Amino acid sequence: MVNRDAELTEKILSLKKRRSAVILAHNYQLGEVQDIADFVGDSLELSQKAAKTNADVIVFCGVHFMAETASILCPDKVVLLPDINAGCPMANMITAEGLRQKKREHPGAIVVCYINSSAEVKAESDICCTSANAVKVIESLEAPEILFIPDQYLGHYISTKTDNKKMILWPGFCSTHVRIQPQDIIRLKLEYPQAKAVVHPECRPEVITLADEVLSTSGLCRYASRSEVKEMIVGTEIGITHKLKKENPGKKFIPASEQAICPNMKLITLEKVLWSLEEMTPEVKVPEEIRPKARTAVDKMLEVA
Ligand code: 13P
Ligand code: SF4
Repeated sequence: MVNRDAELTEKILSLKKRRSAVILAHNYQLGEVQDIADFVGDSLELSQKAAKTNADVIVFCGVHFMAETASILCPDKVVLLPDINAGCPMANMITAEGLRQKKREHPGAIVVCYINSSAEVKAESDICCTSANAVKVIESLEAPEILFIPDQYLGHYISTKTDNKKMILWPGFCSTHVRIQPQDIIRLKLEYPQAKAVVHPECRPEVITLADEVLSTSGLCRYASRSEVKEMIVGTEIGITHKLKKENPGKKFIPASEQAICPNMKLITLEKVLWSLEEMTPEVKVPEEIRPKARTAVDKMLEVA
């Protein structure tokens, strides 16, 4: 297996050079995929990297909305998603038509769209945000009424951090993060009394209340590197423990729940990355009828943070 991975890695790296490609990977990717990437990060960092890259091809090791965001920002580049079925169930919980209907019900509201959404939905929104900059984005807005889509739990968390804003929440959620239960945190805190509990804002409010910190995936990685943190209960998708362990040898990382696995993130494998670079497919390309409007919402976010 190790030899097979080494062989695949060698082929990927040489083909990557020939294609003038960059490999971007999300923090939840399989360890071996993270290890061949040029950059591993959270949704905000990955979109910032995509916006700045000089490469001709972006191989996106993540899920569909992330590759779409890269295509929105880099229309002249080829964006490859090594498995086209790698979607995000939360992003699929809202459609552009559903959003248009909701906007008619709340004509005065500003639409803030979590980046975990389709390009079509972004095109119907005023501004995007990620888990790393959501509070900052909301605070930058003058409007008293905000329609926050599609993650009700991230929306709820922001509403506890910002004043004087009426938040209307779309009832979407992440099917992976809801598997983390308050009992998991309570049990692990008793078992590891020294450990800090750090959770992602996609978790349920009852889980968030029990946490020491609520952070994006890369925020969680930065927190883990602090000298006072020796043990950490990790309240997010378990793929992140690969990076945490690699960057912090000797520290202890305890997944809040072994059930917190995003099956879509795991669809990307080394074999598929190689195949994708060989065949230059599957390509994700946002149509020009949608792209400029979606770009406005993404750019506005990047201006804020
Ligand atoms: P981050 O932006 O924190 O990496 O989160 C993305 C995501 O899909 C979490 O489930
Ligand atoms: Fe979507 Fe949740 Fe997977 Fe993130 S972890 S990609 S929000 S399903």
